[in-house]
Amino acid sequence: MSKRKHLVAPSVLSADFAHLYDDIAMVNQSEADWFHIDIMDGVFVPNISFGFPVLASIAHYARKPLDVHLMITDPDKYIKQFKAAGADNITVHLEACTHLNRTVHAIKELGCTAGVAINPSTPVALLHEIVEDVDVVLIMSVNPGFGGQKFIETTYRKIRELRDLAAGRNDGLLIEIDGGISNHNALALLKAGADVLVAGNFIFAAKNPVHAIAELKRITPDLISM
Ligand code: DX5
Ligand code: ZN
Repeated sequence: MSKRKHLVAPSVLSADFAHLYDDIAMVNQSEADWFHIDIMDGVFVPNISFGFPVLASIAHYARKPLDVHLMITDPDKYIKQFKAAGADNITVHLEACTHLNRTVHAIKELGCTAGVAINPSTPVALLHEIVEDVDVVLIMSVNPGFGGQKFIETTYRKIRELRDLAAGRNDGLLIEIDGGISNHNALALLKAGADVLVAGNFIFAAKNPVHAIAELKRITPDLISM
């Protein structure tokens, strides 16, 4: 079975905000595929990150797609503004959306790709009615809110369950994993069926972030036995 090449998305949450341009330039020059941008509202998650002006500034210098992960309640109110600020993919949390189908289609109508994220305690089965409509499913492998947390091991099982759920219904679905990812678990995640690896601390706390990104990219499908 051939497998498409996986993507790596550095999480800007772990960047140095006083030298943000340098970190954006580093990601531009690296082998990374996307910028992962975490938006937290202090309500859906117990932390506040940043909003539209910062996103728009990142978009101004970023030369790769912006993958915007909304950890906010009532995202419908703001998706237009996120698109205007430069988002390419907008991912909303299943737990934050009363009318998830409406939200996903509203994102697509804006011209963005649409993602749905699930928390560690949310079962994959709840994606049953939405899996055909989304471009990305983001499986949280930590409880959202902070970078640098410990990876939750049940994630592997959830990836396999999602692969099964999507088979024949949405074979182009990208499965994105977010939280506690490093060179220690990346290969196992890809083996389980992940397509996109988000990494914050592993990349930005590394002595050489460009090498850390290359290390995650270098895990090739050839090394993966399906
Ligand atoms: C957590 C965020 C993640 C986080 C990942 O709520 O969604 O994107 O920045 O950071 P690490 O890789 O350090 O766990
Ligand atoms: Zn994230």
